[in-house]
Amino acid sequence: MAAMRDLSARQGNEWKLDPESFWTVLEPFLRHLATHAAEWWVTEEPVDGSMVGYARSIERGGLFELSEFFIRPDRQSAGIGRRLMERVYPPGRGDVRAIIATTDVRGLRRYYAAGTVARFGMASLAGQPKPAHVAGSLEPVLATSLDIPEIAAIEETVFGYPRHADYPWLFEQREPYLYRRAGRTVGFAFFSKTGQGPIAALDPADLRAILLHLEALAHARGMESISFEVPTINEVAMQHLLGRGFKIDAPLNLLMSNVPFGQFDRLIAFAPAIVL
Ligand SMILES: CC(C)(COP(=O)(O)OP(=O)(O)OC[C@H]1O[C@@H](n2cnc3c(N)ncnc32)[C@H](O)[C@@H]1OP(=O)(O)O)[C@@H](O)C(=O)NCCC(=O)NCCS
Repeated sequence: MAAMRDLSARQGNEWKLDPESFWTVLEPFLRHLATHAAEWWVTEEPVDGSMVGYARSIERGGLFELSEFFIRPDRQSAGIGRRLMERVYPPGRGDVRAIIATTDVRGLRRYYAAGTVARFGMASLAGQPKPAHVAGSLEPVLATSLDIPEIAAIEETVFGYPRHADYPWLFEQREPYLYRRAGRTVGFAFFSKTGQGPIAALDPADLRAILLHLEALAHARGMESISFEVPTINEVAMQHLLGRGFKIDAPLNLLMSNVPFGQFDRLIAFAPAIVL
């Protein structure tokens, strides 16, 4: 029998650094989650205290989202995940309960048991950035923290849940852009060399120009690849990126939730695909 330990109150300063490049990308955001988790539980071997698995969730207002859920391969399919989920993602918590799910069947079983249903696929689209000309009337402007209320207002409209706890991290780690037309802000995007998003537009048609702007930035910075986490129901972004030669990374993830929410035809999720 493995033992459960609650790490929700622990500060994000106890991760061991790993030289692998995936860790370089993940580490800053995992540190952020370590500080802002709603629930964070680990399962340990009672004999030596070694970690068997862990799970975390976050809360933004009424949005309750499972961020991570992993059991060591040699201890999977033995009911440990079920016990972790009871603690990290308890029934009844959150008005909107959401999960970006892999297609692991044990995970899917647990997520249906937690009252969520698969709504649509989430596709990671990657491509080599090419020179891109942003035509039209949309003006990209580098944002400052004074613009957070404008970004939050667009997130409120498009997604339903502004990520107030995340804006300081996003502004520190990524370049924030506002997109303006005739003086009015109609979209925003967070860009970096290691991960894009979130990105949202009041009108889905504006996503074309926003994605071209980000691709042009990536090309100018000499990035070998840029990728976006696109809801498969986001017709504009899917058609635009596929049309520019971006490739879908298999397998897709699934967006699961207890109720339909958000306008996913006009947003591109945060990458890496841990939370929306
Ligand atoms: C997903 C994961 C955390 C689940 O933890 P776990 O300890 O293996 O899961 P449990 O043993 O508690 O539950 C597995 C459930 O899947 C069910 N199951 C297994 N195969 C199934 C299938 N083909 N169809 C439906 N249900 C299936 C089991 O019957 C069990 O359900 P039950 O308890 O209601 O009988 C773990 O398997 C894992 O780490 N997977 C790899 C990482 C991953 O993909 N994580 C998800 C990230 S979103």
